[in-house]
Amino acid sequence: MRYSEEFIEKVRAANNIEDIISGYVKLQRKGSSYMGLCPFHNEKTPSFSVHPGRQTYHCFGCGASGDVFNFIMEYDRMSFQEAIVSLANRAGIAVPENDVTEEQKKAASEKIRLLNIQKDAAMFYYYKLHSQEGKVAVKYLTDRGLSAETIKHFGLGYTGKSGSGLYAYLKKKGHSDRDLKESGLFTFNEAKNTMQEKFWNRVMFPIMDINRKVIGFGGRVFGDAKPKYLNSPETKLFDKSRNLYGLHIARSSREKYMIICEGYMDVITLHQAGFTNAVASLGTALTSQQAALLHRYTKDICLMYDSDEAGVKAALRAVPLLRSAGLNAKIVDLKPYKDPDEFIKAKGSEGLAERIKKAENGFMFEIRILYESYDMSDPQAVSDFYHEAARKLLTFSDEIERNSYASSVSRMYNIAPEVLKRQLGKLAMQGIRSEETPQMAERPGKKKDKTYDRAEKILLSWICQKPETIEMVREYIGSEDFSEGLNRIMADNLFKMYEEKRFNPVAVLNLFEETNEKSDAAAIIEGSLIPEREEDFNKAIKEVMLSVKSASLERKIENLPVSDMAAFQKVMAEKKNLEEMRKLIGG
Ligand code: GTP
Ligand code: MN
Repeated sequence: MRYSEEFIEKVRAANNIEDIISGYVKLQRKGSSYMGLCPFHNEKTPSFSVHPGRQTYHCFGCGASGDVFNFIMEYDRMSFQEAIVSLANRAGIAVPENDVTEEQKKAASEKIRLLNIQKDAAMFYYYKLHSQEGKVAVKYLTDRGLSAETIKHFGLGYTGKSGSGLYAYLKKKGHSDRDLKESGLFTFNEAKNTMQEKFWNRVMFPIMDINRKVIGFGGRVFGDAKPKYLNSPETKLFDKSRNLYGLHIARSSREKYMIICEGYMDVITLHQAGFTNAVASLGTALTSQQAALLHRYTKDICLMYDSDEAGVKAALRAVPLLRSAGLNAKIVDLKPYKDPDEFIKAKGSEGLAERIKKAENGFMFEIRILYESYDMSDPQAVSDFYHEAARKLLTFSDEIERNSYASSVSRMYNIAPEVLKRQLGKLAMQGIRSEETPQMAERPGKKKDKTYDRAEKILLSWICQKPETIEMVREYIGSEDFSEGLNRIMADNLFKMYEEKRFNPVAVLNLFEETNEKSDAAAIIEGSLIPEREEDFNKAIKEVMLSVKSASLERKIENLPVSDMAAFQKVMAEKKNLEEMRKLIGG
């Protein structure tokens, strides 16, 4: 425990939740609470509510909920400690010094020392570039089209030819060997007790965090030597998965969207051409943490990956990843040029602006690549394509969005809309949602046999969406037929609320404390797709009921006390009913 309860409560009291949140979300008063668009998932109608009385927020769509600290932690991606400090600063409350532990103080000062090393190294490389020795590097950069101003703007540097001097320079600046070993700039040879520079004869690209602090480097050789780029290893400062090259500038760009490309040179050329909203992941595939980081600044992404096969693959990975972080992605076609750098050299900024205008919607891109992977002269392939396309469409939980994409897909690929709809309905009946849907994603450690669990969840979901179905359901199924845990609790409450004529599925969420359970319950309420045609729905719901009931009977039979004849007869009667029900629907 770092800060005292008293201090935390003081900070809380000084930060009204509705004031804080309205700095991020447009809120509208609705009775005793406020409503707005949820900042934690994509939505078009407000389901995010802020309750001033309780000083809490809750999203009925995605289940996000908590107090003012949780909000800042979620939104600004901070730890609890950081959120406290941030809110204390906002309210002008001094953070007590003695509340900081020795360990924290040590870590903080080590971080400062390591940052100073990176800063000094960047200075060293910068001076080298502008020295006599650096002429060759300046020529390289200039030949690649960078202006002196751009070179300065990005703080580019040069190691020197042989790579001596950095160690001595940093020692002279007063850095200790212990810290230098942690800096990622040297290879320590234990046997010889020497520190060897990791980078030599390379152009250096300092990598900065969003606060413009140098945290690492990328270094490029001049010619074709390998490796072409060498990057700082992960250190206490440098976490590749949580930073993006160029974000320290791009974050304050006036554009509403961000460009993601692959390389350092792409970012720099883009900025020089006026696209100051460009960033790149650091020589690795885009991560969900990077997506979350971008989400702080924008909702719209333009992917500008290389036009080769690897670039397409990377984009196919990035699109769903961005989508689950609440970001919309569009894909820019750079063909026949290899990357943004080459494109700009050939076609200039206007050329690129044209391509950005014509960028392809991320989902339609996924479908197109899918389409191109099938041989459409083969009828089986055609049907597989429809099936896959429908599966992908099911990842949209918002019905309007799903329908609008479904129309686009059927128009674009000449699929009769009814065929696609039928396919969607069929999948919905099987209760299949694509594995990409985050809310339904299976958490590790769940039971292996999930058929009944899935059937129960679908049934609950349909009840939430069409409460009147309870009338029919309760003739055959009671809440005791649901398996214990979340499903049973939901069933109990939904049936009860219905009988007491106060049906309000969202209220059920309050029964769950755990975030996991809350979001599972929210996923159920939000819904499995309901087959559109009445007859399809009637058939589907019977199948789902059968599945729930027979699993329930199996459980009952398993647990039947040997001596209880009455219970046995009851279960057998139910089983007979079930057989008849099965015959009735021809299952
Ligand atoms: P240029 O040839 O300088 O234009 O490179 P590029 O920006 O076109 O880079 P490329 O598309 O080849 O690679 C994209 C990114 O991947 C680079 O910016 C680096 O971050 C990373 N990368 C490229 N080559 C290497 C390598 O050999 N090793 C490592 N670790 N990363 C590399
Ligand atoms: Mn390139």
